[in-house]
Amino acid sequence: MTTEAAPTQPHPLDPLTVEEVRTATAIWRADERIPDHIVVHVAALHEPTKDELAAHSPGAPVDRRVRYLLRCPQSGIAYNVVVSVSRGAIDSLEMAEDSHPPYGAMELYAAGEAARNDPRFIAGCRTRGVDDMTTVQLDPWPAGRFDEPWETLDDGRTRRIARVVGYWRADKADNGYAHPLDGLVATVDLDTKEVIDVLDIDPRPVPRTLSRYDGEHARPPRGTAKAIEITQPHGTSFVVTGNHVSWEGWSLRFSVHPVTGLVIQNVTYRGRSIAHRLSVSEMVVPYAGLSPSTRWKNTFDAGELSMGKFVNSLTLGCDCVGEITYADQVFADDWGNPYLVKNAVCLHEEDHGLAWKHTDLHSGGVESRRSRRFVVNSVITAGNYEYAFRWYFYTDARIQLEVQLSGIIQTERTNDDGTAPVGTRLVLPGLAGAHHQHLFCARLDLDIDGRGNSIVETEVVPTGGHTWEQSETVIDTEGPRDGNAAAGRRWKIINPSVRNGLGEPVGYELVPASTPTMIATDETSVARRAAFARHALWVTAYHPGEMHAASDYANLNPGLTGLPTWVKQQRPVVDTDVVLWHTFGSTHVVRPEDFPVMPVEVTGFTLRPHGFFAENPALDIDPPSHCHHDG
Ligand code: NI
Repeated sequence: MTTEAAPTQPHPLDPLTVEEVRTATAIWRADERIPDHIVVHVAALHEPTKDELAAHSPGAPVDRRVRYLLRCPQSGIAYNVVVSVSRGAIDSLEMAEDSHPPYGAMELYAAGEAARNDPRFIAGCRTRGVDDMTTVQLDPWPAGRFDEPWETLDDGRTRRIARVVGYWRADKADNGYAHPLDGLVATVDLDTKEVIDVLDIDPRPVPRTLSRYDGEHARPPRGTAKAIEITQPHGTSFVVTGNHVSWEGWSLRFSVHPVTGLVIQNVTYRGRSIAHRLSVSEMVVPYAGLSPSTRWKNTFDAGELSMGKFVNSLTLGCDCVGEITYADQVFADDWGNPYLVKNAVCLHEEDHGLAWKHTDLHSGGVESRRSRRFVVNSVITAGNYEYAFRWYFYTDARIQLEVQLSGIIQTERTNDDGTAPVGTRLVLPGLAGAHHQHLFCARLDLDIDGRGNSIVETEVVPTGGHTWEQSETVIDTEGPRDGNAAAGRRWKIINPSVRNGLGEPVGYELVPASTPTMIATDETSVARRAAFARHALWVTAYHPGEMHAASDYANLNPGLTGLPTWVKQQRPVVDTDVVLWHTFGSTHVVRPEDFPVMPVEVTGFTLRPHGFFAENPALDIDPPSHCHHDG
């Protein structure tokens, strides 16, 4: 691995620096239109447009801009501000009356403390057998929208609220999720910090059976595993310069967006354009349980919680093993002050089994090559759950997003007879876990050999007897499409103006996850608010303002924003700049094995060349250096 010194002029897609955030915050703080007591909910690089990026030449001056979503707790007004650090100016300032950016860290902390000090909530803990409020773990949750009377203020605006649930802990390091204070929910007005409702239904003693996984209380280690050392004695094959990676023909940039997490940009392979920008754009976790503590749970980890800011500092030897290069990421706190997360991204290459092989039975010749992948990895802790987002780039020109899910499931108590309530399954005697889905919507802005692309839906179709073909149907207008695993339905992104050696348009195909989409029925609050998750695919015409599948203001939103609104324009999507949105995820039927901490579960999708090359692009990968043949 070689890390070259970053050039003095930034690249337009470089992550924000501490100094840039500090300067940008000072610029809008000095503007009299923005009140002093304002909360910073999002501060992110304001990305250049495609045209600006295309016009950029290395070393040329760059207009570095920061986009803020601010909100005034007094007036309830949200501010969407774009600041140019380079020019010391505010480029745009839009005010929105009834729009809610993601929660801020201090809001959520204050919600928990408001519940801890509320006499009704304290009484609810007491009737469940917990007297000492310092032993109560308080988890703030997005409130969602359920037509509750307190959701709307007298003037008709949406009230900024969160809900809080509690868990008892035997000591500081205990696993609180073994001890839910079920049926007790505080609703807190985040602007006034006032507890506006306490739901206290059917109190029962808190389950006290311990179920722990921490070092001290995990099972005694097996003691059977010998060390596996991953070493690259001659160095790695990749070069990282700032946030740019080059490796095995690939060129790409990476960063962590404060709302959506890992972003991959400017992806080319051997100088040919493949993708402008790839990222998860939103996600939702709807729960299937009916308990008063569960039935409203359906977190949008991006638009409500700004999950990118919860990216872990990764540790060599634990989170990642081998010859690892790390990258830091700068975010802004609730006041707009910069802070740095060390080792927010890890970069490395992995052996990935066979790339290809053939034994020629006539000549006796054996040819085999090893596959490798380059990994861009980050891990996010979103409350009780962990998500590792891993983008893979392979030596055969495939791209894959793998999401690894771990952490702790949401728990509730059992029925009085010890059975599991509707929508749950037992994980311990007296303790149930609610089934749920984790539905991610990836925004895939592919530019296959340029921006003029079309989308082709492909299926395998029987054509009589044993014969079959792959059908190709061009999607001409934007809108949603559903999956069809039985027909092998896939979507191919082609460039009709660029032909391969066989005279066909070059393309990449999306091999979808073929996982269930939203199971909750269409009239439910969560299916309205996370409408993106009802379909496996959405196709839109490119628009730089359309970045988040449920809009920039998914929080506390009554729904049908984002994708379902945009596609109503019915823009044509043939031979133009198109964006794919792929919903995939994990439909998590809870098992006893998921407790007390869940073994990693995996979901994701693949983008692979389909007619992009004239032959196997991995023919020329280096032969193995240590191929031990006997005799
Ligand atoms: Ni899960």
